[in-house]
Amino acid sequence: MISAIPAVQRVVIVGCGYVGKRLGLALRSRCDVLGIVSRAASLAGLEAIGLPGQGVDLDAGAPLSPDWARDAVVFYLVPPATDSESDVRLAHLLNGMRRRPRLFVYMSTTGVYGDAEGSEVTEQTPVNPLTARARRRVTAEGMVRVWCTEREVRRVVLRVPGIYGPGRLPLGRLATREPAVRVEEAGIGNRIHVDDLVSACIATLDMPDARGIYNVTDGSPMNSTEFLLRVAREAGLPEPPQISMDEAQLVLSPSRLSFLNESRQVSNRRMLHELKVQLRYADVDEGIRQSLAEEGQGSSGSGGR
Ligand SMILES: NC(=O)c1ccc[n+]([C@@H]2O[C@H](COP(=O)([O-])OP(=O)(O)OC[C@H]3O[C@@H](n4cnc5c(N)ncnc54)[C@H](OP(=O)(O)O)[C@@H]3O)[C@@H](O)[C@H]2O)c1
Repeated sequence: MISAIPAVQRVVIVGCGYVGKRLGLALRSRCDVLGIVSRAASLAGLEAIGLPGQGVDLDAGAPLSPDWARDAVVFYLVPPATDSESDVRLAHLLNGMRRRPRLFVYMSTTGVYGDAEGSEVTEQTPVNPLTARARRRVTAEGMVRVWCTEREVRRVVLRVPGIYGPGRLPLGRLATREPAVRVEEAGIGNRIHVDDLVSACIATLDMPDARGIYNVTDGSPMNSTEFLLRVAREAGLPEPPQISMDEAQLVLSPSRLSFLNESRQVSNRRMLHELKVQLRYADVDEGIRQSLAEEGQGSSGSGGR
């Protein structure tokens, strides 16, 4: 990893959950880290791993101290609430940020690109959100762009695909034998191992010229069934039953289908060339093996698409 810019002394991770905790642990030896979460149980989780935390429920409009962001690098990792077309959590945070941070990093999703029918998308590709979830992200990216431009704050948006890692492998789906769409019919998609995502976050802080949008993927696009089969093989579990796309429309949840209905290959060239991220898990089998090893093989993970 590239050496730190000495002047960065404070990092605030708003939404210090799965990714945020690993980011905080990676950064705490070089600067002060504060993790913001909404629930008491999550605050206790931060305490348990030795990360300073603060409880702020952005849904409740809880006040933030006026100075909290002054000169800090802010990573914003809170997903939008699902009961609005906008992102009221982010709006509340931006409205309450009276002091300028030195850098604002917003974690978005590659869902903003919608369906590209299997072709490549880059940061220049126009957004085409097909779901309410993706529309909220486009709105949120726009809010961050306006807020940062008006205040001359350096802004980075990381567009992230399915995150996997220890505790985030689809072992639960394999255990319940949830069917998967046949490999030859499933659309292509992208992933990132959580530790490579953390490296990309840290690179935004280390590269003072980094600004604008970066896709963050492992550069190994493959469909979700292929990924599931690889996890099954590495974990020594039976392969899932495979069904046609037509059958999937009848038996899978709307949420799962919304991912299956989109197909694209997200380019990571800008991330590699400008953020100089050195991927540890460009080989997805390596990433799966590391994840299984860290979680002690056998605990059932959640998430993972
Ligand atoms: N999972 C994926 O495959 C994927 C793909 C692309 C992008 N992303 C996005 O990447 C980001 C990080 O993902 P993650 O897996 O680390 O998410 P996560 O584990 O769900 O963490 C989300 C964090 O946001 C906090 N939060 C939620 N509601 C809040 C509120 N009202 N006020 C204050 N804090 C609140 C949570 O705190 P509490 O626990 O206290 O509520 C938690 O610390 C998220 O925005 C996620 O949507 C995820």
